[in-house]
Amino acid sequence: MQHIQSYIEEHKDRFLNELIELLKIPSVSADPAFKEHVFKTADIIKQSLLKAGCDHVEVCETEGFPIVYGEKIIDTELPTVLVYGHYDVQPADPLELWHSPPYEPVIKKTDIHPEGAIFARGACDDKGQMYMHVKAMEFMTSTNQLPCNVKFMIEGEEEVGSVNLSKFVKTNQEKLKNDVILISDTGMIAKDVPSITTGLRGLSYVEVEVTGPNRDLHSGLYGGAVANPINIITKMIASLHDENNRITISGFYDKVEELSKKERAEMAKAPFSLENYKKALDIDAVYGEEGYTTNERNSIRPTLDVNGIWGGYTGEGAKTVIASQAFAKISMRLVPHQDWEEITQLFKTHFESIAPKGVRVKVTPHHGGQGYVTPIDSIGYKAASKAYHDTFGKTPIPQRSGGSIPIVSLFEQELKSKTILMGFGLNSDAIHSPNEHFGVWNYIKGIETIPLFYKYFTELKH
Ligand code: BES
Ligand code: MN
Ligand code: MN
Repeated sequence: MQHIQSYIEEHKDRFLNELIELLKIPSVSADPAFKEHVFKTADIIKQSLLKAGCDHVEVCETEGFPIVYGEKIIDTELPTVLVYGHYDVQPADPLELWHSPPYEPVIKKTDIHPEGAIFARGACDDKGQMYMHVKAMEFMTSTNQLPCNVKFMIEGEEEVGSVNLSKFVKTNQEKLKNDVILISDTGMIAKDVPSITTGLRGLSYVEVEVTGPNRDLHSGLYGGAVANPINIITKMIASLHDENNRITISGFYDKVEELSKKERAEMAKAPFSLENYKKALDIDAVYGEEGYTTNERNSIRPTLDVNGIWGGYTGEGAKTVIASQAFAKISMRLVPHQDWEEITQLFKTHFESIAPKGVRVKVTPHHGGQGYVTPIDSIGYKAASKAYHDTFGKTPIPQRSGGSIPIVSLFEQELKSKTILMGFGLNSDAIHSPNEHFGVWNYIKGIETIPLFYKYFTELKH
């Protein structure tokens, strides 16, 4: 029987080239201008799943972008792994900050990736990581080493909130029945520090609008005498954190899970260099909630951040004007037990209540999702841990991530199964940013590790 290493050796160039072809298609789900490309990507995923050995693959239409579903059922008595991933990507803007065009993938060496990294939008999030699963499947089927049943569900709307996937999951419970869900759409601590993600944060995303006078005004004639919506919105936003950087919305922390000293001590064991962290971001100090470390602030603590703010004159030169309106987009990252809809409501009530006389405030909720946390004593976790141990020579560290994949908590609710998050990306891979990339080493390591998960999961389950 052929071993994974020799299979990879033989097919590595093709594995890279296939991913590069996939990355050339701008499957941006957020922008309607890319619609055709998103649909085309779904078809390519379908073909790749068929080639990888799925017996049955369908492109399931939704009200938005399709969900590609594929399966290979070898024996209904055996366990079933459901692989989830997404083929849509974030917009590439701002384009001028890319060193090479986002949809013309190139392999370049970096300090962290001396073997080279593929630079393209979606390289890591999530085309590259999703495609590792397709290639791991190809290896297992073509060498007769698939130990259990497999289902693939690859969607095209993750970056815009997975609204249609939620409906699909709710109405296709039988089809999606599984023993464990496997996802590679997160990261790991470092190339020599394998980790398994055990938590994701929830999300509440809102847009706020502050309206003052019924038209833009001359800032000399009216300045000082009417409320300036930009002055007001910035003041309101500033008041959302207190002097300890805690969020001031009443009730916001009510359901936040406080970790025990022991759990926090466990977390603190993960290797982390504050100096390197600051250096990588070119900052002279970190910032955040009093009483928590950097790793705690970005994983077990909830946050509130302005993602965008606009209004008034931002063109060349100076225009003296008081804008009629000001806007901001605000996200709140939530932790397990905080309910995103409840938090959205608390935000709305609070934000409206702090508006001074002279302006009107409108809060529009966008998408959201619940957080997730998974135990480290499940069969799935143990199988993943053994798989990493084999390929990295070290036991992986459990790590809670600050990012969100809202569909994961819905999987648990609707399909009653736990998700194992085997991420192979690095924080420095610049997902959602210009010059996103994915290490060739990481891509290959993923392909190498995934089949072992299947093997150990099947063994432990039996
Ligand atoms: N893959 C990311 C989430 C992620 C990245 C989790 C790294 C953990 C580590 C996913 O594609 C994503 O970007 N999610 C969005 C939320 C979504 C509703 C738009 C996020 O976290 O902002
Ligand atoms: Mn992703
Ligand atoms: Mn993303």
